Amino acid sequence: MSDEVAVRIRDLKKSFDGKDYVLNGMNLDIPRGKVTSIIGFSGTGKSVLLKHILGILKPTSGTIEVLGRDLQKMSMPELIELRTKLGVSFQYSALFDDMTVMENVCFPLREHRFSLGQKQWEEIAARKLGQVGMESKHFHKLPSELSGGMRKRVALARALALDPEILLYDEPTTGLDPILTEVVDDLIHNTHKNHAGSTSVVVSHDLFAAFRLSDYIVMLDKGGVLLAGTQDEFHKSKNELVMKFLSKGLKQG
Ligand SMILES: Nc1ncnc2c1ncn2[C@@H]1O[C@H](COP(=O)(O)OP(=O)(O)O)[C@@H](O)[C@H]1O
Ligand SMILES: [Mg+2]
Repeated sequence: MSDEVAVRIRDLKKSFDGKDYVLNGMNLDIPRGKVTSIIGFSGTGKSVLLKHILGILKPTSGTIEVLGRDLQKMSMPELIELRTKLGVSFQYSALFDDMTVMENVCFPLREHRFSLGQKQWEEIAARKLGQVGMESKHFHKLPSELSGGMRKRVALARALALDPEILLYDEPTTGLDPILTEVVDDLIHNTHKNHAGSTSVVVSHDLFAAFRLSDYIVMLDKGGVLLAGTQDEFHKSKNELVMKFLSKGLKQG
């Protein structure tokens, strides 16, 4: 049973100040091997949820299981090991500005696959960069010498370096023009297809991209899950907020 669930969240509560709850008793199963989009208005706790899945934030109460492991029962070294199975791509590419493209992608390998050595790190990095459509002539450039789209590709290649089982994207297309948005959506789609069995979790304010990309959509509201289901289930929903989102789309606010 738990084999089919990549992330299991039970009664998750998070308050930063002890008064207001950003997450207020959230229950959620993110299916393994699929693309799940998490949508909701700005400030509904999407990024806070992702940070709990990564073990960066600690819950006020409740449980988070990632790949069958209860995060709160894990030691720091175990948590670090588990994190190597999670690839993260944040809204801003967050590349190291003073490292070349190649050095950026080698970085996680150097940290977690130390025994392989430089030659193999570079081979793996070159393969990952190839998978996201980066040509080798760019490998020795600095991020400042690349276009926004290329920086996204490098960030994704770095997230893929350790062959993660779960890929998490936080607003991967926010602030991008429509053409680049489509490129990044395709990149997410193809990356998922090319990594058999991998689980992708995409936080997005773009409902229509969520429909295009994902098998499963989770809509957050008031610190919990308003609706989780397929595109079809969203279209059939009689929930007023869901219907409003469907007619207007989700404006980023
Ligand atoms: N480290 C923090 N300390 C205090 N409040 C925070 C922190 N991180 C997020 N919040 C608050 O939690 C709420 C949800 O934030 P977030 O998850 O970033 O929203 P979004 O859905 O837009 O990603 C916001 O009100 C935000 O101000
Ligand atoms: Mg956010």
